[in-house]
Amino acid sequence: MILIKNIKLLVQVQEKTVKIAAGSRMAELPVLKDAFLYIRDGVIMDYGEMASIEDSAFYNEFTGNGTETVDASGRLVFPSFCDSHTHVVFAGSREIEYIDKIKGLSYEEIAKRGGGILNSARLLQRTSEDSLYEQAMRRINEIMMLGTGAVEIKSGYGLTPEDEIKMLRVIRRIKDTTPMIIRSTFLGAHAVPAEYKKRQSEYVDIVVNEMIPRVAGEGLADYIDVFCDRGFFTVEETERILEAGQKHGLRGKIHANELDFSGGIQTGVKYNALSVDHLEFTGEDEIEKLLESGTMPTLLPGAAFFLGMDYPPARKMIDAGLPVALASDYNPGSSPSGNMQFVMSLGCIKLRMLPEEVINASTINGAYAMGVDEKAGSITKGHVANIFITKEIPGYEFMPYSYGSDHIDKVILKGRIITGQF
Ligand code: NIG
Ligand code: FE
Repeated sequence: MILIKNIKLLVQVQEKTVKIAAGSRMAELPVLKDAFLYIRDGVIMDYGEMASIEDSAFYNEFTGNGTETVDASGRLVFPSFCDSHTHVVFAGSREIEYIDKIKGLSYEEIAKRGGGILNSARLLQRTSEDSLYEQAMRRINEIMMLGTGAVEIKSGYGLTPEDEIKMLRVIRRIKDTTPMIIRSTFLGAHAVPAEYKKRQSEYVDIVVNEMIPRVAGEGLADYIDVFCDRGFFTVEETERILEAGQKHGLRGKIHANELDFSGGIQTGVKYNALSVDHLEFTGEDEIEKLLESGTMPTLLPGAAFFLGMDYPPARKMIDAGLPVALASDYNPGSSPSGNMQFVMSLGCIKLRMLPEEVINASTINGAYAMGVDEKAGSITKGHVANIFITKEIPGYEFMPYSYGSDHIDKVILKGRIITGQF
């Protein structure tokens, strides 16, 4: 049991699970000043103002032997970030391409030369499951201490049935060995392997006929993803894959409109995807379709930042009434960082979102975008106790403002203070 006392600001307090924060509601962030928070059995049991702490139904437990008391004077408590789009299982790194980019090559040019995703796939195919797990765990440990408490992880660097399954097994092992909330997404259609270059539809056949049934049969994925964009997979191919996924109970969460007006957003909405992600190319029609849907627009400003590309029109989307989630896209090619504190800064600086909006986008809306809104994303009684305590900072606005620094002092996941590595 943990009692956190004298919390300067308890952030994102919601009496009941709130599924999404949309439009003008994104600028509202409920906080409690001078608060306490009580955690038992890995769950948020109670919270309130210090002035009324004696009224808590659990007050008699607060002074008991089994309760550890943490004094959070001058500090803020947040629900952990829900990072709903990552590729943290990958082999090695791609700083050589980074240098090519500095010298002037574009992301698409690098991909066409056999670099990019195919480069990571070659490496991953040669890497053992154990080594992949170890490499991924270093990243998981890193983002855990940076405030992430729930993370969605995709396959997509395997590109053969065996190697895709290998990646998904690594994700399952991460789920079994860390206190993070993990969701797994099958992304067999991330890129077309070199040997299928002129026979792309044959690769799609393999995804549909071989990979999806095996992945679903072994219960290895929660969702299905397709990179629906110029130079990658077409709308028709995406539809085929999403349909096959639906038949096996896998809901879509797709990469769309990063490189062009690809039709990916409309396709995602048509198939009731849980989220459509990237969205650098979003116009009026895309916004209209999203407004009529239950699909979460998810923005990944770390990728546009790293690639030096245009940012998605977040302001337009929110002002039109849409919700927006923010995620890191942690991957070796377009966003080699999973730091959600920095993603929030980019949200403010580059997407012109308010501090309240980036916090809602990284908590409540992120939780929705990965299907964990019933248990994460807010300080709500009954939710999993995944939270963090900041260092002494003036207010929540300071977090995105003072970019590049780590503002977190203590991380608590499933009700335990996290001190070391997993
Ligand atoms: O989300 N856009 C497609 N996939 C990844 C990039 C993966 C890579 O380059 O390795 C992304 O940006
Ligand atoms: Fe991605």
